[in-house]
Amino acid sequence: MSIIAARKESTTTATSAAGTPAEAAAHVSAGTAPAAATRGQVDITNVRKSFGATEVLKGVTLSVPPGGVAVIVGPSGSGKSTLLRTINHLEKVDGGYITIDGELVGYEVRGNKLHELREKDILKQRTNIGMVFQSFNLFPHLTALENVIEAPIVAQKRSKTEARKRGLELLDRVGLKDRADAYPRQLSGGQQQRVAIARALALDPKILLFDEPTSALDPELVNEVLDVIRELATSGTTLIVVTHEMGFARDVADTVVFMDDGLIVESGKPQDIFANPREERTRSFFSKVIEPAFNI
Ligand SMILES: Nc1ncnc2c1ncn2[C@@H]1O[C@H](COP(=O)(O)OP(=O)(O)O)[C@@H](O)[C@H]1O
Ligand SMILES: [Mg+2]
Repeated sequence: MSIIAARKESTTTATSAAGTPAEAAAHVSAGTAPAAATRGQVDITNVRKSFGATEVLKGVTLSVPPGGVAVIVGPSGSGKSTLLRTINHLEKVDGGYITIDGELVGYEVRGNKLHELREKDILKQRTNIGMVFQSFNLFPHLTALENVIEAPIVAQKRSKTEARKRGLELLDRVGLKDRADAYPRQLSGGQQQRVAIARALALDPKILLFDEPTSALDPELVNEVLDVIRELATSGTTLIVVTHEMGFARDVADTVVFMDDGLIVESGKPQDIFANPREERTRSFFSKVIEPAFNI
C-alpha cells in the first residue's frame, strides 16, 4: 500500500495506532516511487507535538498535491507555526509522520522502526524545502545577491559564477535585479522579504513554506510581497502559506485550512469555506477577521 493510501486509511480508521511510527514504517517499506510529475506532494498524517505537558498539535492530517497552494489560517497559538516547522523537521514530531513525495521527513525506516536521520541527512533533506519567515533573517553583512547565493555555494557546492547567474535571475523574478548589491539595511522591509523569497528559491525546493510573510511589514509594503507569492503560486511549486491576509487566501489558495487549538477544524476551497463554513468555530473566526466589505 502506498503511503498516501495509508494516510487516507488512517483518517477513516480512528484507532490509536493510526499514524504511529510503526504504521509509517510498515507503509513506507511497502514503497512508493514518486513519478517525476508528482514533485512536491506533501502528506501530513496524524501529526502530534507537545511542548512539555502542552499538546500543541493534536493529530493533524493534511495533504497538498504537487503544485498545490494551501493557505493555513487560524487564531494565534493554534499551532500553525509549529505545523510548518514539523514539515522541514525544525520540530520533531511525537506522533504521526510527514512525507514529501513519499519520502519520510526527518526519519528513516530501519527494520520495522523509524529512526531519526543524522543531522547531515536532515540538512540535505531540508534543501527540498524553502522557508520564509515573518522576520526576514537576511545576513546583514551580505548583499542581496550574496544572501541569495550563499546556500547554493555552501550547501550545493555550485560554482560562484553559476550561482551568481541564477541568483540574478531570481532577484529579477522578485523585481530586485537592480538592488543586487544593496545591503539589507539599505532595503525596505518589503524588498528584504522579496530577497528572502529569492533566497528560499535558490535551492530549487520542491515546496515553499511561508509563515506570516507579511506580518512584519508596513501596510503599504504588503502587496509587493503578496504579488511575488501570487506569481509563485502559478509556477508549479507547492506552497503552504500561513497568513492573516484573507483576500490573498481567497484569490490564491486551492485549499484554505482553518486551524484552532492544535487541530484542523475544517478545510476547503476558498469560496466554500469563506461563504459557507460548516463549523461554528470557523464562522466565528472569519466574522472577526474578514471585513464586512470583503466580497467572496
Ligand atoms: N518552542 C516552544 N516551546 C514551548 N511552547 C511552544 C514553543 N513553540 C510554540 N509553543 C506553544 O505552542 C502553541 C502553538 O504555537 P504556534 O505554533 O506558534 O501557534 P501559531 O503559529 O498558530 O500562533 C502556543 O501555545 C505556543 O506558546
Ligand atoms: Mg505563528
